[in-house]
Amino acid sequence: MVCQKIRIAACLAGATRRRMAMPEVAQVIQVPGLDYDIVVGHRGIVDIPNRIQRVVDADRAVVVTDDVVGPLYARSVVESLNNVGMEAVLISVPPGDSSKSMAQAGRLFDALAERQHGRDEPIVAVGGGVVGDLAGFVAATWHRGVPWIPCPTTLEADIDASIGGKTAVNHPSGKNLIGAFHQPALVCIDIDCLDTLSGRDYTAALAESVKHAIIHAPDFFVWHEQNAALIVQRDPGVVEELVARNCRIKAEVVAADMRETASQNVGRAALNFGHTAGHAVEAYFEYRLRHGEAVALGIVAALDLAVRHAGFPEGDRQRCERLMAELGMACRAPERFEPEQVIERLATDKKVRRRHVRFVVPTQMGSVRWLESPPRADLARALDRIQPD
Ligand code: GLY
Repeated sequence: MVCQKIRIAACLAGATRRRMAMPEVAQVIQVPGLDYDIVVGHRGIVDIPNRIQRVVDADRAVVVTDDVVGPLYARSVVESLNNVGMEAVLISVPPGDSSKSMAQAGRLFDALAERQHGRDEPIVAVGGGVVGDLAGFVAATWHRGVPWIPCPTTLEADIDASIGGKTAVNHPSGKNLIGAFHQPALVCIDIDCLDTLSGRDYTAALAESVKHAIIHAPDFFVWHEQNAALIVQRDPGVVEELVARNCRIKAEVVAADMRETASQNVGRAALNFGHTAGHAVEAYFEYRLRHGEAVALGIVAALDLAVRHAGFPEGDRQRCERLMAELGMACRAPERFEPEQVIERLATDKKVRRRHVRFVVPTQMGSVRWLESPPRADLARALDRIQPD
């Protein structure tokens, strides 16, 4: 495991205390191999403008957001940048996945051209995964790469999308098909932005947290079990610890295999645990499920395969489902689905190699391996696990 150095301003131990105290200064997460800091804290403490000034040599910036997050958070980021002498402008896109498009990227390129945005000038993304992926893609390609700084405002973006440098827009034939690896210059996570996140989006994002725990950190899985009630209550100190620990795990996995090219082991692709069946179910339900809700179903299905084919203990499979239920996550699809159609969709997954469907499966808590081409009957059985009663 890649070792890490973390400067933490407050003690984060003591997982079972009734209410977690909030650290009074930001946590700066640094992982060897990852050339940027991930700052986690609360408004004011994160101090986005000064942190940006420390990592870029520029006196201008563009801030990208969406029409919902703009008035809530992004405008104040622009103001605070202006207050430290950085001339910043705001560009807003409509909310929703449809903004991850070449059309919106083109709009941003036009704005950068008009402004003569230079190669040292950062693009700051204030919003969820859509804004981050779009702004990151534009930052990756403008001048062949300008600094980009995700300031995520959703739990999913905090713990997954903003870390690791995957940027993309969609093509009509598929999601995330046009993209680039482009690592951020800095990630600034202001936990207070989660105050306006809906319960549904918060709970859905917890699927990525459970995923990280299963693939990489058995102690973090136990932490979830011990703190399930406080996680559900969105206790501020617990949420901050949850975000910080997820960031560290994601950063470690990414740093060990930055471009997902590991051939000896699963590498970064471990992060796809739960996503093979998850993506197929998400597409089957025509994206009416939140991504995290589909991933939760994908985890349940993959765990069935893991018990059958990878020696994952049945007792741990039950623990995983119990924890997911305690966290309020649905472990069954919202309505019955046609398994054969979902199996057909599996064949189009990005993890397919030479037309063989591949799953990431845990062999035990904290370790994963590939499972190649499980028998169709076992796929059907795994999908049966997520059929509603
Ligand atoms: N979300 C998967 C990855 O960043 O690799």
